[in-house]
Amino acid sequence: MINNNLPKHIAIIMDGNGRWAKRRGLSRIRGHVRGVDSIREITTACAKRHIEQLTLYAFSKENWSRPRYEVEILMRLLKRYLIRERPTILDNNIRFTAIGQIEGLPKDVQKEIAINKEESKSNTGMVLCLALNYGGRAEIVDAARGIVADALDGKVSLSDIDEEVFKRHMYTSNMSDPDLLIRTGGDMRVSNFLLWEISYAELWVTPVCWPDFRKENLEEAIRDYSARERRYGGLIE
Ligand code: FPP
Repeated sequence: MINNNLPKHIAIIMDGNGRWAKRRGLSRIRGHVRGVDSIREITTACAKRHIEQLTLYAFSKENWSRPRYEVEILMRLLKRYLIRERPTILDNNIRFTAIGQIEGLPKDVQKEIAINKEESKSNTGMVLCLALNYGGRAEIVDAARGIVADALDGKVSLSDIDEEVFKRHMYTSNMSDPDLLIRTGGDMRVSNFLLWEISYAELWVTPVCWPDFRKENLEEAIRDYSARERRYGGLIE
């Protein structure tokens, strides 16, 4: 059965900013700056296309190991993005959210995240979720911690712990699992992104680097997704 549908939830590993810049003899930072333009275009395109949820891998826990200068610029860009894109979020009826260990981000960035969440909380359109200071393994460990805490409080017993209980403790508890995972920059790996949630996601990798990724590329990914069969481990009659 061809699934002929739009993906409800698209997740994107936005990779290749550094390579994009290097090929043009520019600093890596220029690649990140151009990457913010791609975020704006793809967010707006997804909202207009009635995609229900868009999750973007914006900063991983592993990204802290980059040179201090690059991390500082990324945090500055993130703050600027959160402020400048507020009108885009509100004008497109988007509800903003963030996943990851948000408490580990600089305080001024946390403040802007909170403002975007608050100002967009009544919006009824697409959910835009930024993964920030995010790690897929850390998310699973955090979920396990939450479940153990509930068990110690007598709120859950060993025999009650199943996939549903885990789901309720994931950062994405109120989201559906991604249907389509896009990776730009050509590498064939998942890089610790949404490990629990992408169990049955369709993968689509493009060599196009994130700063060059435009709505035409998004359309290509969606077309490819729509023509695929999703079997979830079962058989098609
Ligand atoms: C990496 O490309 C991509 C990221 C670090 C995440 C995405 C970041 C942006 C789109 C720019 C900043 C925007 C926000 C909202 C923080 P890379 O540097 O790993 O590229 P490379 O693999 O070619 O070196």
